[in-house]
Amino acid sequence: MTDPQFKADILDCFRATRRAVPARWLYDYQGSKLFDTITELPEYYPTRTETALLESILPDAANIIGPHRNVVEFGAGSVTKTPLLLEAVNPTAFIPIDISGEFLRSSVEKLQSKFPSLSIYPIEADFMQKVSMPNALPDNKALGFFPGSTIGNMIPVTAVDLLRSMRVSLSDDAMLMIGFDRIKDLSVLIPAYDDSQGVTAAFNLNLLKRVNSELDGDIPIDKFQHVAKWNDAMNRIEMHLQSRQDVSFTILGEDFTMQEGETIHTENSHKYHVAEAQTLLRAAGWVPVQHWSDEDDYFSILLAEAQPFAKAP
Ligand code: AVI
Repeated sequence: MTDPQFKADILDCFRATRRAVPARWLYDYQGSKLFDTITELPEYYPTRTETALLESILPDAANIIGPHRNVVEFGAGSVTKTPLLLEAVNPTAFIPIDISGEFLRSSVEKLQSKFPSLSIYPIEADFMQKVSMPNALPDNKALGFFPGSTIGNMIPVTAVDLLRSMRVSLSDDAMLMIGFDRIKDLSVLIPAYDDSQGVTAAFNLNLLKRVNSELDGDIPIDKFQHVAKWNDAMNRIEMHLQSRQDVSFTILGEDFTMQEGETIHTENSHKYHVAEAQTLLRAAGWVPVQHWSDEDDYFSILLAEAQPFAKAP
């Protein structure tokens, strides 16, 4: 069944003069598969850089974190980096949170076979909201894990809201390990979001396919092109779908037109200096305690601890 929110967001988008769609609609089954392919592309440095960085820092990070925490992963996805962390920190329990039950079940299966004695408490929920921890959870301190630089897909105000709600969900004495993609040369950034094999283009254009199939649309997809561009004021890569000529189409029986060159804004990917990432964390009630970067400064992993809820001057 079509998600009513998808229908509302798409109709809102096409009725507006500045067209934008929440990026989460890129991730239907096909979109998620294409994203998995993106993570393996030669131009897409974030996944392999973060994984290698995580491997190299974990002994150090585990010393700071200490053992026997409840590890809570936000947006457990395909849990590729999780085993590295679980091996290093020897947790009491693992709590993956994901909006997709399908992804969650396959992640739990994979991890349970690798860590047979680990207690896993999957939660199917939108981690953008406060998530209540299961009652049966051992009374240990939490470690939040938010890899992949997914934080960059949110505008800063939403990123702070999310970090603050993680602070509330994870309670006092919690720590948070989070990946941030760094600001870097456009000769590296642009190809990462506009690869030579056209996988990112297919990922972006898949949104229009989804509209056609789920909302009875007849958008001429071949008249659209994928555009990835840098927004210097906002320090972010933007993905757009641009019409290559004047087009008209219908969605659920409603008529729409777009002129040549007009775009639909489909995703933001914000990039950060370390100091900015630290400020984002502080703004949300986290105190940064350590950060690590790869040798090219392409990617950083930050570790923070929950700031006590106390009166401040
Ligand atoms: C999921 N997220 C961190 C990716 C990124 O790099 O912002 C999404 C993506 N979009 C196009 N390529 C990758």
